[in-house]
Amino acid sequence: MAVRVAFDEVDSTQSVAIDRAKSGAPDGTYVVAGVQTNGTGRTGRSWSSPRGGLYVSWIGPGALTAPGLLPLAVAVEIRRALPDGVRAQTRLKWPNDLLVLRVGHPAQKLAGILTDRVNGPDETIRAVVGVGLNVATPRTDLPEEIRSRTAILAELVDPAPDVREYEDRVVESIARAVARLDTPEGRASVVAECREHLIGLGEPVRIDGRPVGTLRALCEDGAAAVEQDGTTFEIRAGELTLPELA
Ligand code: BTN
Repeated sequence: MAVRVAFDEVDSTQSVAIDRAKSGAPDGTYVVAGVQTNGTGRTGRSWSSPRGGLYVSWIGPGALTAPGLLPLAVAVEIRRALPDGVRAQTRLKWPNDLLVLRVGHPAQKLAGILTDRVNGPDETIRAVVGVGLNVATPRTDLPEEIRSRTAILAELVDPAPDVREYEDRVVESIARAVARLDTPEGRASVVAECREHLIGLGEPVRIDGRPVGTLRALCEDGAAAVEQDGTTFEIRAGELTLPELA
């Protein structure tokens, strides 16, 4: 059952949800805030969180067979929850981004997904899935350096999207993604759907700034398979750069 914990303003929904997961909040509890004063992204980066965006962190079971697939599984479910016209323009970027690609625009990030795993009080493994979705963020409230690289739903749909409605959609998307990862058939269907929408397959990529080869596949466990000089490596973490997005 979903339990909603709402703040008008909080440092980070993710850090609140991590604390609650550790102290035994039930599966399905989620933390949402109108503003975050210290929103965090992957690898310790900050996540700009002005009013108008959606900031949510969900707690659920974390003993997953393929935890590395979770961010993309969530991204692909959020993609499904978007209006048709926007969905058609979105692609997934390994390992955790939902991008909007439009002719004449740079690639723009619509949503970011952060997954943490922590131990609950009885040593159970809990997942904490954080999503930042730019629903109706005023562009001018974003730091200048990310403005042109950010997609905002309100600029792409008519009528204007309702943050509360997207909160429900995102929470349902996260729960569905976790449920899909629970069976071999579900995992296979997630991988197939992610491969269909993944950007960069067949292209030379950099990971954490280093040229590592050509992105060949998304592996069953969510790793990126990269080929260099006839040898294929599986990469499980890192920041991917694609020439077409640079
Ligand atoms: C990323 O792309 O680096 C992931 C960004 C995740 C941001 C969300 S917003 C809700 C939750 N609370 C946080 O502090 N971070 C996540």
